[in-house]
Amino acid sequence: MGFYSDIILPRLCDLAMRNKQLVPFCERVIGAAEGRVLEIGVGSGINLPFCRTPVREVLALEPAPRLVTLARSASHATGMPVSFLEASAEGIPLDKHGVDTIVTTWNLCSIPQAATVLAEMRRVLQPCGMLLFVERGLAADEAVHRLQDWLTPAWRRISGGCHLNRPIRSMIEGAGFRYIPGPKPMTFMYEGSARPN
Ligand SMILES: C[S@@+](CC[C@H](N)C(=O)[O-])C[C@H]1O[C@@H](n2cnc3c(N)ncnc32)[C@H](O)[C@@H]1O
Repeated sequence: MGFYSDIILPRLCDLAMRNKQLVPFCERVIGAAEGRVLEIGVGSGINLPFCRTPVREVLALEPAPRLVTLARSASHATGMPVSFLEASAEGIPLDKHGVDTIVTTWNLCSIPQAATVLAEMRRVLQPCGMLLFVERGLAADEAVHRLQDWLTPAWRRISGGCHLNRPIRSMIEGAGFRYIPGPKPMTFMYEGSARPN
């Protein structure tokens, strides 16, 4: 705790997550949510305006007080009832099987006890519920993977604990979730940018 983590990091988080290139990811993830939705690490609330029916209610969990303040403002742009849980996801203050959907976007890279948090998500999610996520993590390409390992110690220091190299899929599966890949021929995506020659 300190000036950097309490004041600067929440601002940096808000600025980074406002990147317009992330919007389609947020729209897709939130667009698949329904019922009583728990968003883990809601941050400054960039996902909240994308909530639509069949979302009935959003429970927005966030431990950083500054981000909760920003997210409260963002919550006015959604027509849904939004309640805030000012807590860490290592101990989600909800009953077993209490939510229909869990949403997590760009959190698992930085949450210290990510395995505990995933176990908590499994506990509070309905057995027929859905965990929806978009997360940064370990690249399949071996050369990129090595670079991620090399960069992560320094990156963690400046980014509030973000790891570039977490194996997100195996972490999720290890917590008792069944990963549902899209059909490979239709879901291989290229993302980047290009300029005219
Ligand atoms: C990179 S930000 C992403 C914020 C938001 N999910 C978004 O997409 O804009 C990471 C978030 O994880 C939250 N976080 C860190 N540790 C956490 C924990 N133990 N439990 C819940 N959230 C946590 C941070 O406070 C921050 O809001």
